[in-house]
Amino acid sequence: MKLNDAIQSRRSIRKFKDKKPDWRKIIEAIDSARYAPMAGNIFTLKFVLVDKKEIIEKIAEYSSQEFIAQTDYLVVFITNPERTENAYGKQGTVFCRQQAGAAIQNFLLKIEEFGYATCWIGFFNENKIKTLLKIPEENNIEGIFPIGYANEKPKSRNIRDLNNFLYFNDFKNNRMKEIKKPEGRYPEGYW
Ligand SMILES: Cc1cc2nc3c(=O)[nH]c(=O)nc-3n(C[C@H](O)[C@H](O)[C@H](O)COP(=O)(O)O)c2cc1C
Repeated sequence: MKLNDAIQSRRSIRKFKDKKPDWRKIIEAIDSARYAPMAGNIFTLKFVLVDKKEIIEKIAEYSSQEFIAQTDYLVVFITNPERTENAYGKQGTVFCRQQAGAAIQNFLLKIEEFGYATCWIGFFNENKIKTLLKIPEENNIEGIFPIGYANEKPKSRNIRDLNNFLYFNDFKNNRMKEIKKPEGRYPEGYW
């Protein structure tokens, strides 16, 4: 699959088929997270791959999102920010969240490439899930990803035109090239 196709076709899926993905492929997708940029080259992520149905059901409950329980696999992205915070102080906390996002996008694109589907779950009771998965206190859960085969085709999104968000050189200028008044062709006051 071409990178641009993966970027544009990836969608959040909340209905899954009763069909199991290959867990080896999921591990391959997790592996892609290792290639994300990390501040100071300090790797801060850990992952839990869950395949026990009773744990998946608990996570669905602790997220108040029942659809999660339809899947046979679930990946939890976890950050331990200690080393990055030791190196960069408070900025390190921000770096950890940013690089988790970069790593997650690698993972999402690989999941797309393999023909699987997921939805980034960011709303959950973190303390309850940490206890359930025996994740030590100093770690943060960055996101939870139920993995399966899509059983829905989401409506097309309203992706707004780039012109609405892109500026050049400063935040007041949305043109790449300055429009110069054509000399002498228009009467005074036309512009
Ligand atoms: C940080 C983050 C947290 C999210 N949390 C949830 C969530 O808890 N439940 C959910 O159904 N979708 C969640 N989403 C998915 C978004 O709703 C979804 O990405 C958005 O509606 C755009 O749709 P798309 O992913 O199909 O492009 C989350 C997405 C992000 C980036």
